[in-house]
Amino acid sequence: MIKSQGWKWEIVKDDENCIWKNPAVQSYYLVNRWKSQGKNDFLDLGCGLGRHSILFAKNDFNTYCFDISEDAVNKTRKWCEEEKLNCQYKIGDMLNLPYEDSSFDCILCMNVISHTDTEGIKKIIKELYRVLKKNGEVYLTLCSKDTWGFKDTDWPKVDENTKLLMVEGPEKGVPHFYADYDLIRELFKKFTIIDITQVENFYEHDDGTWYSYHYHLLIKKD
Ligand SMILES: C[S@@+](CC[C@H](N)C(=O)[O-])C[C@H]1O[C@@H](n2cnc3c(N)ncnc32)[C@H](O)[C@@H]1O
Repeated sequence: MIKSQGWKWEIVKDDENCIWKNPAVQSYYLVNRWKSQGKNDFLDLGCGLGRHSILFAKNDFNTYCFDISEDAVNKTRKWCEEEKLNCQYKIGDMLNLPYEDSSFDCILCMNVISHTDTEGIKKIIKELYRVLKKNGEVYLTLCSKDTWGFKDTDWPKVDENTKLLMVEGPEKGVPHFYADYDLIRELFKKFTIIDITQVENFYEHDDGTWYSYHYHLLIKKD
């Protein structure tokens, strides 16, 4: 299994325009969905700068912030303290989550669990199942094999589904696991899959428009 590696957040300009400071559109739906289901214990797995930890804590979820990057957890903690929000913080590796079995009602992994290889993704999925309560839900994203980074680059290959991303920036050299629909069905067979969507994102750069595809999954432990 490839060694885990977090993002280098110290090179990201984290002002209010930074996309990583503004919650993803899907997160507002999840707040409503999980509130109406009476869910409470929430894990922001791979919290980054804390944009979703803040949103869920403001909506009275009992919020746990977790990331392998010390810088990410420190920045999340500082932001929560500025907002006078009480959260729990831990630094660690998603391959071995430092939480008891059945700890969480709901877990968000937004652009996180693809940062490993095929062996690693299997371990993470087992960990998600273990720390989730019965009837608990997870919302997660996975890089898609339709993305140019998988199809059209000569980035170093780790295994048949995994490459090291080679774009300059905070995730240079970080492993990326890429999935397709059949692989997803196989990997998540212990869960009930409530919804799978493939989303295409566009990013405007100086050298043109970049795009990427991600699968978004809403899954449940019965
Ligand atoms: C693309 S960022 C997303 C951050 C956040 N989820 C968001 O949506 O703003 C990916 C995050 O996953 C973290 N990460 C990568 N590998 C990890 C691992 N093995 N264990 C825990 N966190 C990890 C990175 O450090 C980074 O903060």
